[in-house]
Parts: sequence; C-alpha cells; structure tokens
Amino acid sequence: MRVGSPQHRDLFCRTFIETHRVFEPADLPWPQLEARHIDLLRAFPFWAFALSMEQEADRMIAAFARTIEDPLIREAVELQGAEEARHGRLLKTLFEQYGIAVAPLPPSTKPVGRDDFLDFGFSECTDSVIGFGGFALARQKQIFPPELLDIFEHVLYEEARHIVFFINWWRYEEAVAGRNNPLVRLANALKHSVRAVMHTAQGAQGAAVAPAALDLTGGGSQAILEGVSAKMFLEFALAENQRMMQRIDPRLLRPRIVPTLATAALLGLRMLPPREPVPSKELVAT
Ligand SMILES: [Fe+2]
Ligand SMILES: [Fe+2]
Repeated sequence: MRVGSPQHRDLFCRTFIETHRVFEPADLPWPQLEARHIDLLRAFPFWAFALSMEQEADRMIAAFARTIEDPLIREAVELQGAEEARHGRLLKTLFEQYGIAVAPLPPSTKPVGRDDFLDFGFSECTDSVIGFGGFALARQKQIFPPELLDIFEHVLYEEARHIVFFINWWRYEEAVAGRNNPLVRLANALKHSVRAVMHTAQGAQGAAVAPAALDLTGGGSQAILEGVSAKMFLEFALAENQRMMQRIDPRLLRPRIVPTLATAALLGLRMLPPREPVPSKELVAT
C-alpha cells in the first residue's frame, strides 16, 4: 500500500473509526478506593492542567475538523475531538467519584489553524510515551487497584490510536502535496515537536502549576517514580509503547521519533557505569 494513496487514507481513517468504543465515563465500573489511594490521587500535581489540555484539544480539533474537505478524514478527526472531550468528562467523573477538588482553568479563545493540529499531534506523540511509562510503572508497583488502572488503560489505548491516526494523516497529506523529502519531513516533525513541548511548558506555567507539574515529586507521581532510574523509566515506556502499538493494525505507520530518541538514550544510559549499587529486582519491564 502506497502512503498517500486513497487505500492508505481509507485504512487509517476506517481503522480509527471502527476501533472507537462507545461508552460514557459515568457508566464505567469506578472501584471503591481506600483512603490511601484517594490521598495519592489528590496529591497528583497536574489535574487542572490535564483537564484544561483535554478541553482545549476538544475545542481545537472540532474547529480544525470544520476546515477539512475530505468527508472521511473529517469524520475521523471529529471522532478524535469527541474522544478528547470524553477524556475531559472522564477526568471530571474521577474528581467527583473521589472528591478531588480541581479549580478549572479559563478556556482558550485563541483562533485555530492547521499548525495547531500539527503541534498537538506531535505533542501527543511525546506525551503518550511518557504516559505509557508512568502507567506501566503504576501497574507494576500496584500503586492503585487494577480496576482503576483498567479504566486508564483504555484512555491510553485511545491516545495510542490518536498518535497512529495522526502520523498516518500527516504522512498522507505530505505525500499528496508532493513533499516527499525525508530530511525535510524530519526537520518539520522536530520543529512541531519542539514547539509543542515549549507550548506545554508555557501552558503549565500559565496555569500556575509549573513548580509541581514539572517537578513531579508530589503524591502519586512520587509513588510511581520513587526508586525508578531514568533507564528503568525508559525501559518501561518503550515496552508499553510496543505493547500498545501491537494492538493497532500492523499495516499503518507508527510514530518513530520519540521511540528512536528514547531507545538511543537508553543505549547511552546502559553504557554508563551503574551509579546505584542494587536496582530494585521487583521492577522488570515486560
Ligand atoms: Fe486525550
Ligand atoms: Fe489524544
């Protein structure tokens, strides 16, 4: 199948649409949690920013979808926007279920263009791999009951579908426009990725959550990251990324920049002499 062909477009759009799961967050089997679990959830430093990101994604994607002429691509992008809106509702349901007080941030009214969708797509490629690593560690360390992690496993699978859809959409658009130089493509991908990371950092500062969000040493974050070296985190993130990608049609392209950089960083770390005498034997990436 040629990237940029109508068959490619049909495959990445239909795969995305057909793997959409219909549910409402309020209907999910939210488990009863012990007080220590609720305390850990309350202590996560980034809830307000996470909620604001999901709500802004919904607004931005809905606006971008209205500019798309191809009806099949538009349908798939609208569906992604609906899933982001549902992520926002899922977070609100979590807050209600467990009594987590989160002050909402003011919604954005910024005009939306195609570049916003590109920045967002590349930022999801970065954020998802970090999220996969944190999630895999939380499961391995049994920090939360499996019933709660099962709910978030589905959210992460949706993010895996989003980044695969996004990369295929981007490569399709580049091919249709005749932009086939891989070096130019890589430079563009890096440009959007760097801009996306800067945007996230600025957004976190604007949300006045930067010290906690970027520090990530409080509560649940600390419980997940305690005793975890950078090498171990990368091993978990890459293993979970691979597991998520294996659930998606193998004919589709996958995001490659972040996994490649993470693999290179891991190889570099493995070549360093060990700094700590005994790493935890309980943590083994599968
Ligand atoms: Fe999301
Ligand atoms: Fe997403």
